[in-house]
Amino acid sequence: MSRQFIVAQISDLHIKAGGKLSYKRVDTLRALQHAVTRLNSLCPRPDVVVITGDLVDFGRAEEYATLRQALQPLQMPFYLIAGNHDERQALRAAFPEHGYLHQQDRFLQWFIDDYPLRLIGLDSTVPGQPHGELCPQRLAWLENTLAAAPTKPTLVMLHHPPFISGIGHMDVQRLFNSEQLATVIRRHPQVERVLCGHLHRSIQQRFAGTLVCCCPGTSHQVALDIDPQAPSRFVMEPPAYLLHWWTEEQALITHTGMLDEYEGPYPFFDAHGLID
Ligand SMILES: [Fe+2]
Repeated sequence: MSRQFIVAQISDLHIKAGGKLSYKRVDTLRALQHAVTRLNSLCPRPDVVVITGDLVDFGRAEEYATLRQALQPLQMPFYLIAGNHDERQALRAAFPEHGYLHQQDRFLQWFIDDYPLRLIGLDSTVPGQPHGELCPQRLAWLENTLAAAPTKPTLVMLHHPPFISGIGHMDVQRLFNSEQLATVIRRHPQVERVLCGHLHRSIQQRFAGTLVCCCPGTSHQVALDIDPQAPSRFVMEPPAYLLHWWTEEQALITHTGMLDEYEGPYPFFDAHGLID
């Protein structure tokens, strides 16, 4: 087998402090603890985990302390992206050993060059607002960062999806200037994927010569209402993660894996062939 590299992606953890349920209903902490156990048990084990934003629910220091504790048992390096529910300084303060979060002064934008796949994290957050934007400064940083390694396969990650999903109440808080992001990405064919969260669903779109993959949430999911008037509501559909499996021959394959346990696996075949 050729060289391989596996990135597990989870998203939208929405951790609260003090045992509080999110929206008085969802035990997001328990869901994350379960997700961590699950990711640790995967075989082969992912090389790294990326978490595409909404790490906590209200950006509070005590929520980040709870998050930190819940992520502690993770047996592989993990990398953090800010979402609209996050607060940059509180996030940084809770993870002082995550030096990459300080690559830029103002924004949590970073790149990691340690692996066969280059990882680039973008900060699409606008403080106090649910939608996303990438200002000229952040886009210029992306342009320069991509230009610095034009032949290395790369994942670009941000919280806000750069497309219209059809789910009205989420579309009003998408990445507003997705065309400007597309202009940069289009110039850099080494971008294997753009990974995002925010929509709490598995969604794909062709984007700027590459593919955007949106990751489901670790606890609650956004209801699948393809309607511009869709009310803002969530459903307890199965939490899931994305497993991005990279090899030199095939580049990147993306699987969706469930975080809950289900019956099986059972064999298709026995000593007589396909089981009848
Ligand atoms: Fe979220």
